[in-house]
Amino acid sequence: MNREEERIIELRKQLEYHNKKYYVDNAPDITDFEFDLLMLELETLEKKHPEMSDPNSPTLRVGQDINKEFVQVEHKYPMLSLSNTYSEGELRDFDNRVRKTVGDTVEYVCELKYDGTSISLTYEDGALQRAVTRGDGVKGDDVTVNVRTIRNVPLKLHGDYPQEFEIRGEILMPFAVFDRLNEERDASGEQLFANPRNAAAGTLKLQNSSIVAKRGLECYLYYIPGENTPTSTHYGNLQKAKEWGFYIPPYTSVCKNIDEVIAFVERWDKERAELPVPIDGVVLKVNDISKQILLGYTAKVPRWAIAYKFKAEREATLLVGVDYQVGRTGAVTPVANLEPVHLAGTTVKRASLHNADIIAELDLHDNDTVYVEKGGEIIPKIVGVDVSKRKPESKPVRFVTVCPECGTTLVRIDGEANFYCPNELDCPPQISGKIEHFVSRKAMNIDGLGKETIDLLLSKGFIHNAADLYELHTKRDKLLGLERENTASTSRIQEKTVQNLMNSIEDSKSAGFPSLLNALGIRYIGETASRNLAMTFKSMQAFMQATYDELIEVADVGEQMAKSVLRYFSQPENRTLVERLIAYGVKANLDEQAAGNDKLNGKTFVITGTLSRPREYFKNLILTAGGKVSDSVSAKTSYLLAGENAGSKLSKAEKLGVQIIGEQEFEQMIIPADK
Ligand code: IVH
Repeated sequence: MNREEERIIELRKQLEYHNKKYYVDNAPDITDFEFDLLMLELETLEKKHPEMSDPNSPTLRVGQDINKEFVQVEHKYPMLSLSNTYSEGELRDFDNRVRKTVGDTVEYVCELKYDGTSISLTYEDGALQRAVTRGDGVKGDDVTVNVRTIRNVPLKLHGDYPQEFEIRGEILMPFAVFDRLNEERDASGEQLFANPRNAAAGTLKLQNSSIVAKRGLECYLYYIPGENTPTSTHYGNLQKAKEWGFYIPPYTSVCKNIDEVIAFVERWDKERAELPVPIDGVVLKVNDISKQILLGYTAKVPRWAIAYKFKAEREATLLVGVDYQVGRTGAVTPVANLEPVHLAGTTVKRASLHNADIIAELDLHDNDTVYVEKGGEIIPKIVGVDVSKRKPESKPVRFVTVCPECGTTLVRIDGEANFYCPNELDCPPQISGKIEHFVSRKAMNIDGLGKETIDLLLSKGFIHNAADLYELHTKRDKLLGLERENTASTSRIQEKTVQNLMNSIEDSKSAGFPSLLNALGIRYIGETASRNLAMTFKSMQAFMQATYDELIEVADVGEQMAKSVLRYFSQPENRTLVERLIAYGVKANLDEQAAGNDKLNGKTFVITGTLSRPREYFKNLILTAGGKVSDSVSAKTSYLLAGENAGSKLSKAEKLGVQIIGEQEFEQMIIPADK
């Protein structure tokens, strides 16, 4: 080994050490800058010495662009679940059962029940080999590429670790990370994660580990399965694992008897709001491994451990009134206004009531005292009514019969829970909501048209629907004089803003057929269905004529969706809108050369720089020809499609030897050989 190769080994050791100091022990002993310098040195040396590659190198914690589908792996020891208990009585029953089998003195280890997604890590010779999800308990997904990016998972261990062993724990998204992630998603119009558990599980299954690397997941470990554990107690095993470099959560106590266990449960039920990660209960485990063996397992759960689940936090408060919100599809959602009440760390003023059936089920009356609960979801819900507090004169809450926005009589479609306002063409929130959806990023992607501007254009009569956007250029002069009325300032929409908007509207014409289909906002037809429908029908003309039987044949299109499409096109106004869009030159078919061929199968593209059409257009072409599109360049990128002024992605592609192509070469690639 030469000096550089030795240095690589040394740097990897140092970086692993500092990584642990920072992410596991929370006690860094170098600055971030010094850490970055070491990392840079290692990256540079690794590039010079590809023969020294190691999947566990700290440089790979940043992840890769595209991972292959996850492979299913069988667990060496099945990943069992735990029985749940909900009361002190049930905990005492458990303790009695345990003592009957193993004698009177039993120590329990009390831990918190972390609310994330469980993971099993395998180490061989002190290096992370595999990370597998729980799956069905017998087989799970191999998500090693993603788990490697989680900073408190050690890639290399130190100390007297066994040659091969498994360790289990929970992958979690801390509250702070979750809140930030949802804020970002909200800002970019993406669907919000309901809770940190879903966000952690969803992130772990991403096909792009470089996104996982940025999501701030953490791994808390709590169990070493198998016969040959390092010590004779569960607690001892955890202490050992900590010495080897794992993050073992500090909220753990050894309890001498069930009374101490119950005190632990009561303490954490109160203090859980202060933890950085979500928990939903306490887990108690018999400490002595030989006693665990005596107790054994049922078919599904160990007899030596049990979970105690906290009750969802619930408060009583007064119902002040019910509002009805009308969405872009006309669906009317009831929302309860409440006397503000403190619940699970936040003040709750409103709660969703979902639909008329829920109101009826609760038998909700005006001014009722209601119980609100924050389950796993962001929006609290009303789970019950304290009937004893109801005033005799109070009347049942009656779902509105007319639209609160436009006065039209509401309708209910057979088999659906929602009431709808059928006045699609004139009901203000439906009109503005549809246009907001039309311009959104995953639809026509028109920049510079926020909710405020849309409302202003509507109120001035400049537009009435999405098709009118393509005539806005004829009103340029009026636009220039327009003042944003709903902002406090009197800033004029400047020339440049108007020009940018015009450009963006013009560009949107080439967004592509799948995006256009999504932009129409047909009820139940989202991004995926739009893509599938576009691939099948290939043109708007064909799609508009599709029959029920043809629609239902399309992948992932169900009865409700098919009916919704037919309903949409049964309205002459919708047909006119679509025909106008086509007449303005909005692209409404798939490019023939790309449609349905699989020329780009297995090829991954990164798009960069300024191209003659929006990126969405090229993205659609690539996807419809069977290729993939990724955000960042890596060794796995097949082609960089580069336009003018390409920057860092171009230099990275050059460095990695990724083939760089322009628009013309790209077009050549997707034209079928027989043309
Ligand atoms: S021990 C054989 N300890 O709860 C015992 N599980 O309902 C294996 N969980 O799938 C589990 N915190 O995902 C254990 N401190 C903890 C836990 C914990 C959360 C999860 C785990 C498991 C589920 C069982």
